[in-house]
Amino acid sequence: MEQYIMKGGNPLAGEVTISGAKNAALGILAAAIMTDEDVVIDNLPDVRDINVLLEAIEEIGARVERIDRHTVRINAKDIHEVEVDDEYIRRIRASYYFIGALLGKYKSAQVPLPGGCNIGSRPIDLHLKGFRALGAKIEIERGAVVAHAIDLVGSHIYLDKVSVGATINIMMAASLADGLTIIENVAKEPHVVDVASFLNSMGANIKGAGTDIIRIRGVRRLHGTEYSIIPDQIEAGTFMCAAAVTRGDVTVKNVIPKHLEAISAKLLEIGCEVVELDDAVRVVGKPYQRHTNINTLPYPGFPTDMQPQMSVTLALAHGTSIVTESIFENRFKYVDELARMGSNIKVEGNVAVIDGVGCFTGASVNAPDLRAGAALVLAGLAADGYTVVDEIGYIQRGYEHFEEKLKSLGAMIERVDCDKDLQKFRLKIG
Ligand code: UD1
Repeated sequence: MEQYIMKGGNPLAGEVTISGAKNAALGILAAAIMTDEDVVIDNLPDVRDINVLLEAIEEIGARVERIDRHTVRINAKDIHEVEVDDEYIRRIRASYYFIGALLGKYKSAQVPLPGGCNIGSRPIDLHLKGFRALGAKIEIERGAVVAHAIDLVGSHIYLDKVSVGATINIMMAASLADGLTIIENVAKEPHVVDVASFLNSMGANIKGAGTDIIRIRGVRRLHGTEYSIIPDQIEAGTFMCAAAVTRGDVTVKNVIPKHLEAISAKLLEIGCEVVELDDAVRVVGKPYQRHTNINTLPYPGFPTDMQPQMSVTLALAHGTSIVTESIFENRFKYVDELARMGSNIKVEGNVAVIDGVGCFTGASVNAPDLRAGAALVLAGLAADGYTVVDEIGYIQRGYEHFEEKLKSLGAMIERVDCDKDLQKFRLKIG
């Protein structure tokens, strides 16, 4: 089983280049099967979730050609199957995007219903409400969503809760429906806008992505395109927090600073220096960083996917911070792990009260999920002594070459898969 071992204490310094956005890529790759023509997608992150989704796309009959590590050509004219295998849903929840993509193109889809996951129950009722409003008949049969429509017809849909997945999924299906669809109370995340731009580059007619209301005028068919994915806002934010928590000086390159404003604002509030450049952000951590409060909200609010990394940063700041998790109910699982490193955090329901401590001490901890796993690595890099993070498969789902990028900033970290390698690292670092 692979693990990360690290010795904390080095302030991270230098430049790091951010990869393409995983969550945009998941929507875009699914949408790529909605045309029979070639689609070339660039700036794909080379991470596990993306590679699993590509396997699922091949499995239903599309041709997937890796041009290089970050570029893929997809041709979906030979799709023979509108039924997605259960294995992929278990490995990657975002395979629910196949429902919108297949329903739009073939008016039929069969996709296993995703279960709960480590961060919460994650229902998809709003996705299904949207498909039904477009005229699809949806049944749940033997654990799968079975969707059929004779014709999809544009509709007026109000989302009861702001949902990234439902917004993207309904937008895909509605792109090939007859007439106008209006979706209200939609998610405004950068990756929602990116999927809309991608669909528009295939000939869809989507307006308003990035605002509260999206209007989609259905078209008869979509065509091939070449598209480059936006940078990953959460990977960027993670490295920004890495600079803050280790009191380092890191320039995070290949980003869209506007997408990072909520994170930059909080780092400024705690006393870090944050300098926005054209396509980079520099974060300088300070010896004295103070507490603040965080409430996770849909974009442009503070992202739930940055809550653990920011909480780790606050756990080493002066004073008491209150962190409220408003999106997912189970996102404080790392708190018990962090306690092993000396943090002082109390969780009541969806609120964490963080009393900052002067230092962490290295310990063996388990990554409970993707972002919490990354947060524990940041904690280890700021801690005195050695930290071992287990279950790093979660982290590899969403961070490309995480340890290599950290190493290039001066972190003492290694990915190992046996005790002998752990010992070797300790001997080498001393
Ligand atoms: C996406 C991201 C995830 C991020 C989340 C919130 C992807 C692949 N994943 O997840 O990293 O943490 O957005 O920014 O893009 N909800 C319902 N019914 C639904 C759908 C959602 O009640 O049908 C609820 C969820 O339980 C949650 C909230 O709505 O409380 C937001 O979830 P949503 O935005 O849909 O998250 P995902 O798209 O699953």
